[in-house]
Amino acid sequence: MTSNANQYTWAGRFSEPVSDLVKRYTASVDFDQRMWRQDIRGSLAHAKMLAKQGIISAQDLADIERGMAVVAQEIESGQLAWSIDLEDVHLNIEKRLTALVGDAGKRLHTGRSRNDQVATDIRLYLRDSIDDIQLLLKAFRGALVDLAEKEAATPMPGFTHLQVAQPVTFGHHMLAYFEMFGRDAERFADARKRTNRLPLGSAALAGTTYPIDREFVAAELGFEAVCENSLDAVSDRDFAIEFTAACALLMMHISRLSEELVMWMSPRVGFIQIADRFCTGSSIMPQKKNPDVPELARGKTGRVYGQLMSLLTLMKSQPLAYNKDNQEDKEPLFDAVDTVTDTLRIFADMAGGITVRADNMKAALTQGFATATDLADYLVKKGLPFRDAHEAVGHAVKAAEAKGVDLPQLTLDEIRAFCPQVESDVFAVLTVEGSLASRNHIGGTAPEQVKAAIARARQRLG
Ligand code: ARG
Repeated sequence: MTSNANQYTWAGRFSEPVSDLVKRYTASVDFDQRMWRQDIRGSLAHAKMLAKQGIISAQDLADIERGMAVVAQEIESGQLAWSIDLEDVHLNIEKRLTALVGDAGKRLHTGRSRNDQVATDIRLYLRDSIDDIQLLLKAFRGALVDLAEKEAATPMPGFTHLQVAQPVTFGHHMLAYFEMFGRDAERFADARKRTNRLPLGSAALAGTTYPIDREFVAAELGFEAVCENSLDAVSDRDFAIEFTAACALLMMHISRLSEELVMWMSPRVGFIQIADRFCTGSSIMPQKKNPDVPELARGKTGRVYGQLMSLLTLMKSQPLAYNKDNQEDKEPLFDAVDTVTDTLRIFADMAGGITVRADNMKAALTQGFATATDLADYLVKKGLPFRDAHEAVGHAVKAAEAKGVDLPQLTLDEIRAFCPQVESDVFAVLTVEGSLASRNHIGGTAPEQVKAAIARARQRLG
């Protein structure tokens, strides 16, 4: 392919064409074409404003609208031949429009620059993406609540340091993730507010000499307000960084859940099964059923962290206003959008395909003296200071360990050897059910509380 300087809209200023390598290096159309809907939406709003202000004629507007409908249809059907000679999505669309409608197409760029155009497109694209992500997050959180409801009273060991700590219910455990993903949803909603401002009208950097109406364009495009400062509007990408930071936090939560799913699915643990459609086999070991989806999600978390670092570093030390560096904002941003979108979609489905092995959870609960704290609390209620109770129970645990049994299997006399205050009512406290039921306050794991939390969760989901 030979290059021809005259193909560029700015050819007038140049005496030699760029090399094919430079052309490929500087073009963004391969990855920014995904913003074509937003680009067209933005252009139509801009053209409507230009006509309203008498900057272009009503006929020009009609031609632009007619032409854009054709361009949109051509892109939709895959007919439009994207060209790196035209660098990016903006010039490709403008060129095709001009081929279709002539001078009106050439007037579209009046009072506008690709700098404010691209900033507008990204914000529109991101706003749409956030709205998609919010729907997926809602579906996923709904699936977590469904699972929590099914297993609201199912006892499992709660862990600290990966050692059996105290009984909790599986429902309570799932609701912990409901909370985490709820905060993620709040973060996206918050990032959306700062994304939803209109850069258009800033032109290249300083504003434009035409009598434009930015508020009109903002309203047309559903932006909450216009960006106040033209230099800031065309150059900063903090909204994209903020969004990607929210993605990184979300993926961090996904990675925690994934890690637990992988662990719970291990035959050594056997707490859950994940539906087969989320697992794969081994090409060599016939017995294997691998939790590929959660493992991969755990891995993709690192990828999203990487995109956040890319964007932060891309923006670091950039002088005002627009610099070509900013073209590099798209791939990390789009990759974060894609990764989070796919992950949420698959996790919402996967949560519905989790079945719990209550028997194995129960068995695990007998292996770590899970009710030791309950015994200490019992002694406190009998008048012992907590520190003394803690020590007495420590001895009882040691005795049970030596005997190879759990605390409830000790005889009353054996427990009394360390804790003379104990009476026969202690065994109600030492059972898993007793332990769970006694944590009966908001935020606690008592099944009654878990059910109340589920009702509140459903209300919050709307
Ligand atoms: N493709 C460019 C980008 O993505 C569009 C803006 C180009 N502006 C410029 N002054 N070269 O950032």
